[in-house]
Amino acid sequence: MLDCLQLLHFHIGSQISSTDLLQEGVYEAAQIYSELVRLGANMKVIDIGGSLGINYDGSKSGNSDLSVSYGLEEYASAVVNAIRVVCDRKSIKHPIICSESGRAIVSHNSILIFEAMDAAAPKIPAINQVNIPFIMEGLSEDARADYCNLSEAAMRHDNETCLFYADQLKQRCVEQFKEGTLGIEQLGAVDGLFDLVTKTIGASEPVRTYLVNLSVFSSIADSWSIGQVFSIVPIH
Ligand SMILES: Cc1ncc(COP(=O)(O)O)c(C=O)c1O
Repeated sequence: MLDCLQLLHFHIGSQISSTDLLQEGVYEAAQIYSELVRLGANMKVIDIGGSLGINYDGSKSGNSDLSVSYGLEEYASAVVNAIRVVCDRKSIKHPIICSESGRAIVSHNSILIFEAMDAAAPKIPAINQVNIPFIMEGLSEDARADYCNLSEAAMRHDNETCLFYADQLKQRCVEQFKEGTLGIEQLGAVDGLFDLVTKTIGASEPVRTYLVNLSVFSSIADSWSIGQVFSIVPIH
């Protein structure tokens, strides 16, 4: 039966971030291929699965699952070189190399359209809605000092300093909340104050949260999709 065996097929993993990793995997597979030849298999084809990654964030850094540090040419060279080195060393005929890239083909050519059921914008309070005495009640000395510095900076129209103290105040309040010395209502009020400051000085991005029904993903039978990156683009 061994002479019927012609193809070695494998898949190193999806979204391989660098050609070094790719080459390492293909090199090992090529060793297996050459051993099969030595054992008498009638080997002709190596199918390298996929692994050709996508530059989702455009950085080409390969530092995370969002990018790869190579292009199609480098991917192909890494694969061909790894197989060639092993085959030449063992004086084996070069195989036909197949690939079955998945995401590299599909992600550029497929879309999933779904309806946004609702959209919510953050509710930023007006200045007269921020209850300063209430906020001040539970604040630590340091947080009170931040608030005073924030007020002074606001009088001077010093936006950068405003942002600095607003941010510091918020961080301190989060710490106090974690320690249990600040209530959730006060933390919420400080959050509102921070949003008001960033909006007033033009440092906030207008963010809207869209509510969509994505239960479609939980009904996809292939567990491969869990934890993968799906790019999302709104269509108006
Ligand atoms: C056997 C095999 N080939 C190809 C692929 C496609 O992989 P990729 O999306 O990394 O190109 C997969 C994905 O799991 C696979 O299991």
